[in-house]
Formats: sequence, C-alpha cells, structure tokens
Amino acid sequence: MSTSKTTVPFSRDSLDQVLKRRFFFAPAFEIYGGVSGLYDYGPPGCAFQANVIDTWRKHFILEEDMLEVDCTMLTPHEVLKTSGHVDKFADWMCKDLKTGEIFRADHLVEEVLESRLKGDKEARGIAAEVKEEDEDKKKRKKKVKEIKAVKLPDSEVAEYENILAQIDGFSGPQLGELITKYNITNPSTGGPLELPVEFNLMFETAIGPSGQLKGYLRPETAQGQFLNFNKLLEFNNEKMPFASASIGKSFRNEISPRAGLLRVREFLMAEIEHFVDPDDKSHAKFDVVKDVKLKFLPKDVQEAGQTELIEKTIGEAVASGMVDNKTLGYFIARIYQFLIKIGVDSNRLRFRQHMSNEMAHYAADCWDAELQTSYGWVECVGCADRSAYDLSVHAARTNEKLIVRQPLPEPVTVEKYEIDIAKKKFGPKFRKDAGAVEKWLLARTQCELEDLAKELADSGKITFKVDAIPEQIELDTDFVKIAKVTRTEHIREYTPNVIEPSFGIGRIIYSIFEHQFWARPEDEARSVLSLPPLVAPTKVLLVPLSSNPELQPVVKKVSAVLKKELIPFKIDDSSASIGKRYARNDELGTPFGITIDFESVKDNSITLRERDSTKQVRGSIEDIVRAIKEITYEDSTWSEGTAKLTPFETQSTE
Ligand code: ATP
Ligand code: GLY
Repeated sequence: MSTSKTTVPFSRDSLDQVLKRRFFFAPAFEIYGGVSGLYDYGPPGCAFQANVIDTWRKHFILEEDMLEVDCTMLTPHEVLKTSGHVDKFADWMCKDLKTGEIFRADHLVEEVLESRLKGDKEARGIAAEVKEEDEDKKKRKKKVKEIKAVKLPDSEVAEYENILAQIDGFSGPQLGELITKYNITNPSTGGPLELPVEFNLMFETAIGPSGQLKGYLRPETAQGQFLNFNKLLEFNNEKMPFASASIGKSFRNEISPRAGLLRVREFLMAEIEHFVDPDDKSHAKFDVVKDVKLKFLPKDVQEAGQTELIEKTIGEAVASGMVDNKTLGYFIARIYQFLIKIGVDSNRLRFRQHMSNEMAHYAADCWDAELQTSYGWVECVGCADRSAYDLSVHAARTNEKLIVRQPLPEPVTVEKYEIDIAKKKFGPKFRKDAGAVEKWLLARTQCELEDLAKELADSGKITFKVDAIPEQIELDTDFVKIAKVTRTEHIREYTPNVIEPSFGIGRIIYSIFEHQFWARPEDEARSVLSLPPLVAPTKVLLVPLSSNPELQPVVKKVSAVLKKELIPFKIDDSSASIGKRYARNDELGTPFGITIDFESVKDNSITLRERDSTKQVRGSIEDIVRAIKEITYEDSTWSEGTAKLTPFETQSTE
C-alpha cells in the first residue's frame, strides 16, 4: 500500500477486483472451473512481466557480463536424482483421513497458532494487527472454533511466539510433535489429522513413447546451468569468476496453493549462478555497493524467537561476519537495488537469513529477500551460497571433470597420488564398457585414490562399482597401479563455489501490486496502481478531448512520434469523460496521459498529466515526448523531466 499517497486503508479485495477487471492475470482454465495454482496472464500482466524481465536482464546480465542460457524444462530422472531433488525436494503434508483434506504441515501449524494468538489478544482486549485474508481462508475460518476469543496461559503465548519466529526451520517429525502437543486439528472440522508425511514436489513424467526414460518438469533452472559449466567456462575464455543466468518456467506440485500468484504450480524464475574461487569470495565491485543500507533478520535473532530487524550497510554486515562473504553481500545489495527500481517499497523489504536447520540440501548460507504483503512476509528472492555441491555431485556421477584449471603464479611442489592404467588391456577385458571404467578411475579424488592405493597394496586388487555397469569390477596390478609421487605443478585445479540469486518473478510482481496500489482519498472507488514508468505496461494514454475529426491529425502526429521513440502507448478516443478515461488507466498503472485539445491543432502544444499527483504541464509535442522518455528510461524525476515545461492548471479534467 502506498501509504504516503493516501489515507485510505489498503483493501486486498479492491486490488483483486482491479487485477481481475483489467485482466492482469486470471485463473487458468477458468470456464472449466480452474485448477489451483495455475494462472494465465492477460495483456497488462504480460507487458508488466516483460518489462520486469527486461529490467532484470539489463540490471544483472548486461551489467555483470553474465552468460545467458536457455535450458530444457524436461529433465531426466538421473540428473535430479544426482542433484538430490528426487530424495529431498519435498514438503511435509498431513491428511484428514475422514474428509481427505490435505494440509501443508508448516503452514497449518503457523495458521492455527496465529489464530489462537489472535483469539488470545481479543480475549485480553488487545487490538490485534489486522491481517487481510483471502476468500478461501476466510471461508475456512468461518467454521474455525480456534479463533474464538480464548485467553491462553501466559507461558503458552510465549511458546507460540517462539515457534512462529522459527516456523521455517522445523522438520516433519518436529511439526508432528507440535501438532500433537498443541492438539492441532483440521481447522474447518476439528477432525484429527495424520502425522506429517513427506511429499516430493516435482511433477513426474516419462520422456518418449517407451515410458522407460523417467523424467520431471524442472523445479529450478539451476541444474541446466551447472551441467553446461565446462562449455560456459570455455566460452568465457577460462576466466573466473563468472556468472551464468537463465530465465524460464519451473514447476512445483505445491501441496495446497492458496495465496494467488504467491504460491503457484508453474512459475517464471530468473536465476543466476555466479561461479567463484572457494578461496577468494571477494567481489571486484563490492565497494560500489558497500554503503547500501538494508534491513536484516539474521538467524540468531530468529533462533532466539525474535523478529526485530537490524539495519546496517552491506559493508558493515560483511565486515561483522553476519553476511558470510563479499560476493554474497554484493548480490544481496544488487537484489535490493533491482527490487526498488521495479517498484518494491523499501520499508516492506527485509533480508532474512535461513536458520541452520532450514537450509536447502545444497546450501551453505542463504539470505531471502522477503516482501511484506497482506499475506505476511513472503520470500521472493533466495540468495544462497550453494558451495561446490552441485558441480561436485554431477562430476562424481558422470565422471566428467567440472573444475577450473588455473596457472599458478609460482610453480609448487606437491605430493600426490597418481593412477596408471594399462589401457591396452582394458579393451579386451571390458569391451564396450572400457571407456566408462577408465573414466571412473580417472575421476577419483585424492582421498579416494589414497583408499584405493591402500586396498591395492593390501589385497593386490581393487573392487568397485561403476553406475552404468551392473557387475562389480575387479582390477589387479596388471591393470592398474596407484603410487604417491612428488611433482612440480604449474596449474591449480579447483571446483568453484556457486552464489545463487534466485528470483520468483510472479511473487515479486504480486508484491509490487500490493505495494503500489492505493485509492484516491477524495473518491475511494478511484484506485491507482503506481507502477514505476520503467516497468508500467503502457507508458502513455493518448486522449483527444473530443471525437471532433479536427483533432485527428494531431493524434496521428503524436502517435507517430511515440512510435518512433518506441514508447508503448494506447489511444482512448471513447466518448467517456476525460476523468473517466484517466481513471481507467490509473488502474492499469499507466504513468502519463497526453491530452490533445483545440489549442493543439493551432500551435502543436499538448498537455502531459502525471498519474499519481495528477499534475499537468504543457509543451510542444517534441518537448513532451522528450520529458516522457527522460522520466521513463533515463531515471529523471517528474520535476527534473518537466522543469522546462509550463505548469498547466486552468482546466481540471479530473
Ligand atoms: P517456499 O518456502 O515459500 O515454498 P522456497 O523456499 O521453496 O519457497 P525457493 O526454493 O528458494 O523457494 O525458490 C526460489 C524462488 O522461487 C522463491 O524465492 C520464490 O520467489 C520462487 N518460488 C518458489 N516456489 C514458488 C511457488 N510455488 N510459486 C511462485 N514462486 C515460487
Ligand atoms: N534454485 C533455487 C531454488 O530453486 O530454490
């Protein structure tokens, strides 16, 4: 809610109506009754999303010389088994055996404890913070006995608050304990629930007609980027550090998608994988952002059951060790700058660190950019240090080296294990599998070679298993020798670490709608979506004062200039009053209006109106279009962009 612009309280219902009426987005397959968690974007939604993506590309890919890739969404089982998603990409759900209703366990505990706290506040006569609720939740809550004004014991209030501060960190069994301890039941019926069980969020499919090749719709774009690492490094002339980036759809079979665009089953992600030397996570441009001030919610605060934010610069946050390294810090600050540029309210943005027990299976440290909405604080961008996890597991699985080879400034003498393979004997022994066995041996780490050397020395043979070959493999010293040797090395080999900013575009877009939606105090029915001009779907509404044909040549002329300058605009020559025409476009977030009147025919002058303030200025077609361009694309404010134009106050068209 743009609180600075209005005294009218934010209403989610009004926003939902506007978004629906103006077809920003709508439930997919609506005339068939719709499917939860699937949405279609209409024309203004598409244009807004395209502009957000365009800004993202410029802010990240162009600014940082990132290497963009577009990888397939269909992913074979083996890749996601190796990445850990098949085994670990799951949420906990519990089922009401009687009604068949299914709940996401952490969300259920959160919702019920919040309701009870609210009931407790009511019973104690404390005004509870009003939290908007979607229709679905309201309907369910109507039947809920839980939110009756019931006073809780003081100790239980403190326990609930403590649990809620850490709600993202509980395992399934811990959630089960909470459900039992606090007697949490189906909120609508009061019926008992099964203990939480794991549910994998990936959509499974079969690739090809045989049904033999199992696959999934990808749950993130990241894996495609990791698998192309060697090609990308070569493309980058072997230079480190560097980043890849990808924009595309991901899919998650969410347990109970309820909060509109915030939790959907198919969504657009924009992800960056920044590959960095594990021994040097500094960032060449850190100083450029070090003074950016941010609001942090670090893990120790949450673990203590608190939620107060700590405000400091990213420079201070890295220096104090709160944020682990400069590269992670650099991206956190750049994420902030991007979000502000596209319309996020800085007062409703915080960076929350994951608690140790909450981190994804691949992450070493993680900070989420969370945006405050009427649904509470919502994670919109994850910024994780994935360490060397992904490259290491894929390398081990495929026996393909995913490493950096870097010339050393000075040669170094090292002791290391080396393996010597009698290749000529491999062909006759293993036939078509010879290559796979060789590759497996050559991909062993120093630790593994040390173990194999010991086995060979102790028993005269080594036995091992190669994934694609069903039989156990046994080799003696005729086939393989492993020895510790001293070498002078000129090259250092290492597996890069990965810093990953991961953006959910739909969540960001919806949060911006909430942050920028307000109603004019003089007429609450007139709502405005104050989207920044840079990302607004349409930049200008062209409004001829009347349908008199005399005005047409000027309309044509202004249109031609706007087209030439590539400024998206719409003409509204309907018979509605100018005020009504502008009001329609305020809801669409159109930042500028151009009025063409009879003066325009005489002297080529037009009026420019600004959406939020409804201020108007007058000038020539060329000067007005230049002002629009400067404000929209060149970062000028309204006052800067229109400084040379004449204020126009005589006719009120509102
Ligand atoms: P949550 O805990 O809310 O389910 P998550 O921790 O699974 O989210 P990540 O795995 O970090 O989210 O995903 C990266 C980004 O993708 C998130 O920051 C979010 O913007 C977006 N995202 C994830 N799941 C969804 C979804 N179901 N609908 C829309 N966007 C999503
Ligand atoms: N790639 C980050 C995520 O999906 O969470």
